Amino acid sequence: MKYIYIKTWGCQMNEYDSSMIITLLQKKNKYLITESVENADILILNTCSIREKAQEKVFHQLGRWKKIKNKNPKVIIAVGGCVATQEGKEIFKRANYVDIIFGTQTLHKLPKMISEVEKTKKLSIDISFPKLEKFKHVLESKITGYTANVSIMEGCNKYCSFCIVPYTRGNEISRPCDDILFEISILAKQGVREINLLGQNVNAYQGPTFNGKICYFSELIRLVAEIDGIDRIRFITSNPLEFTDDIIEVYEDTPKLVSFLHLPVQSGSNKILNLMKRSYTIEDYESIVKKLIIARPNIQISSDFIVGFPGESEIDFQQTMIFIKNINFDMSFSFIYSNRPGTPASKMEDNIDIKEKKRRLYILQDRINKQTMSWSRKMFGSIQSILVEGVSNENIMYLYGRTENNRIVTFKGSSKMIGQFVNIKIKKVHTHSLKGELFEN
Ligand code: SAH
Ligand code: F3S
Repeated sequence: MKYIYIKTWGCQMNEYDSSMIITLLQKKNKYLITESVENADILILNTCSIREKAQEKVFHQLGRWKKIKNKNPKVIIAVGGCVATQEGKEIFKRANYVDIIFGTQTLHKLPKMISEVEKTKKLSIDISFPKLEKFKHVLESKITGYTANVSIMEGCNKYCSFCIVPYTRGNEISRPCDDILFEISILAKQGVREINLLGQNVNAYQGPTFNGKICYFSELIRLVAEIDGIDRIRFITSNPLEFTDDIIEVYEDTPKLVSFLHLPVQSGSNKILNLMKRSYTIEDYESIVKKLIIARPNIQISSDFIVGFPGESEIDFQQTMIFIKNINFDMSFSFIYSNRPGTPASKMEDNIDIKEKKRRLYILQDRINKQTMSWSRKMFGSIQSILVEGVSNENIMYLYGRTENNRIVTFKGSSKMIGQFVNIKIKKVHTHSLKGELFEN
């Protein structure tokens, strides 16, 4: 028996890719997963290059794995994901003990590449972009609970001036609608109750159908909602650009779609949005949110922010802070701007001191945390539908599950409830977690 150890960094797309790698290697090469690096015959690193720090981490990790390979030269080291796609052979130049370099679109070639390395003991590299090929190899993803991620599209065409993704994941391409529905119906039969539709810009989805038509994102959500057993639908990430009225209408007629939306805005200043090449204005964003509130009065919005983008003045930052209050965002992922080689922004003059960038990030995160808490407080005494995920780590008498707006709720219940939706009355409130009691009517 051979064992694989896999480490995954980055976004949900990478998590999804890793689950495909595991399914594939288990099926084709009969490998088993191990949690111990020392036991592994193959070490796989699925990398992220969204920010500089994420990229540097790769070489630190490889340095640690080198020691393992020194002890056992038979161990195969494979590097995949966004850093591998971007750097290609450069990785080998810096770490010549790496055996395999595979890209975000070539992970299905891993079984063949592993056999090749076993025979030749030479570097095997493939970072090409064969469109959607990887999905043909694995239709069912690995289930890790009652909620599953399903990729509906790959890549991004938006070329925001700061972002590396279009270069590492390629241009936008949508998976055929019927493949997605088939994958979800299999997951539903295996007990999955909640689906998270994944893509860099899910709202730009345009998948071909079996009868030669195009299925748009709004239609796809309605079709997923029709699948027996699937009772909750999420998606990530959507873009304010192409967040069209037909998608807003789904919030009116499809209750299975959660009342929670992650819609990255990046900045509250039109000047910065323009420099970022986001192709929308703050007014466009506000107009989407207004319409969403009409369609779904209890909707909560979360977002991504970048602070310290080249040229961001104190006034621009203050505009972001005002915008955060106005929209009353529930949560955020917020980052200090990181210069990515090859992107248009990397040529702009980065005129802001790192101390100042950190100050802005702190102020922004502090404000969002307060808003998160105030949204949580509003939930006190309310009845929430929870998808029960398992037994609480802290107390075996308690179960835990998630609300529509991503809060973890713990409550006393029977293990029979795991994998089911239950109604819980909220009795105690913390920023990201809640406590409650079963509510039976
Ligand atoms: N498709 C999404 C973005 C995906 S990248 C969208 O439309 O916005 C995830 C997040 O990483 C981005 O929203 C951005 O906030 C952050 N990010 C991307 N590139 C970055 C960079 N160069 N520096 C700092 N943060 C970055
Ligand atoms: Fe990146 Fe902009 Fe696309 S942030 S993923 S280029 S929408």
